[in-house]
Amino acid sequence: MAPNLVLVGFMGCGKSSVGRRLASLTGLQYIDSDDLIAQAEGCTIAEIFARAGEESFRETEHRTLAALCGTQKIILATGGGAILRADNRDILRQIGVVGWLDAEPDHLFERASRSGRRPLLQVENPRAAFDHLLANRRHLYEQVADFRLDTTSLDHDAAAQAFLDEALRHAERFEC
Ligand code: S3P
Repeated sequence: MAPNLVLVGFMGCGKSSVGRRLASLTGLQYIDSDDLIAQAEGCTIAEIFARAGEESFRETEHRTLAALCGTQKIILATGGGAILRADNRDILRQIGVVGWLDAEPDHLFERASRSGRRPLLQVENPRAAFDHLLANRRHLYEQVADFRLDTTSLDHDAAAQAFLDEALRHAERFEC
């Protein structure tokens, strides 16, 4: 059976767009952990941050990821901070082949700040907050990922195809 595919990466790297295209390419079901959290809580991620704070969001995020263990035939797009907890990183590696979507910081920032809906960037100096988070997280993406894909010069279709090619090269982790 083909392994699940898990997309990790910083805000703005294109996890959702590339994930949806991967679902079309493979026929696997697309799941976005932030969407599951928002549905379960009945409000947006920004509202969860505003009402209950980041810690509470991280707990829900952890429970949501843990509940996906054992699910088959999925493409899972994760929130940018899902890799912060070591137990989440273990869970993601159990769920499937993990690919890190990366890009040049300017490119990521431009995309991440475009929507205005990301709570961690709703601060006085969003670029400073972005740079700080990115510097603290890069090694965690590297740690959890089976491979890294630089999407700076790729459109979403090309990124999805390149992701799939790389993921298949790393699928032996799931062969018994
Ligand atoms: C977060 C990224 C967001 C969302 C939440 C926290 C983060 O997801 O989970 O706002 O800590 O980087 P995206 O990466 O899809 O923006």
